[in-house]
Amino acid sequence: MDPLDFIISLAREAGALLADRLDGPREIAYKRKADLVTDADRASEALIVERIRARFPDAAILGEEGGVYPGTGNERFIVDPLDGTTNYAHRYPLFCVSIAYERAGILEAGAIYAPMFDELYAARRGRSATLNTKPIAVSPIDAVSDALVCTGFVPSRYERNAANFALLSRTAQAVRRDGSAALDVAFVAAGRFEAFWEWDLKPWDMAAGAVILAAAGGTVTAIDGSPLDLANGSILATNGTTHAEMQRLLE
Ligand code: IPD
Ligand code: CA
Ligand code: CA
Repeated sequence: MDPLDFIISLAREAGALLADRLDGPREIAYKRKADLVTDADRASEALIVERIRARFPDAAILGEEGGVYPGTGNERFIVDPLDGTTNYAHRYPLFCVSIAYERAGILEAGAIYAPMFDELYAARRGRSATLNTKPIAVSPIDAVSDALVCTGFVPSRYERNAANFALLSRTAQAVRRDGSAALDVAFVAAGRFEAFWEWDLKPWDMAAGAVILAAAGGTVTAIDGSPLDLANGSILATNGTTHAEMQRLLE
């Protein structure tokens, strides 16, 4: 099966599971203060891992909730089974499933599904990005003063981003903090936000969005402008035309 078709149907299936459980009772555990995990995160990842193991038995898996397999080939799936867990725990509808497919160390495809909006973002590297199968492109706005930008915070390192949040609140048209990094990047790809930045993310927060945004004509680097490094955690994802200005403001 084509890996992109596979991760699209998998993101939809896991997203449906999350939506089904949203109104039911939930078990919330704390990995650290303000770092939650629910039974839904775990159930979503178990489903995704089971499907990958059945269809791509040689592939490596990097899943946030412990679904980690070394694999025996050169393929890898990078999985956030529920991005936006705090939103989910409060029944705030901005959350998604994010799955990336990598071959020989290169991100080849990404799928992000937001079940409460029935929005499926997808792309293959070097091809066009789609939202529910229709092509999407980044916004043409080229000045941060006209831009709607978004960020995120790791609670334990709030101070690291506080000054930039204040600066962009003064400089940009407005700043949002939506609580799902993968969806934030997808929203840049769809032309809703001009830019998104965050420090201290994990590979599964960024991998699928990076493929989708690049395919939608955007630019994605680390905040200092160096190439995106999934292991490093810093991301500046923009429509391209605001990239240099955003980078200058954040430095
Ligand atoms: C979190 C979300 C949030 C971001 C955090 C992430 P999770 O992922 O993407 O927007 O600010 O840094 O950890 O825990 O909900 O999968
Ligand atoms: Ca996440
Ligand atoms: Ca997660």
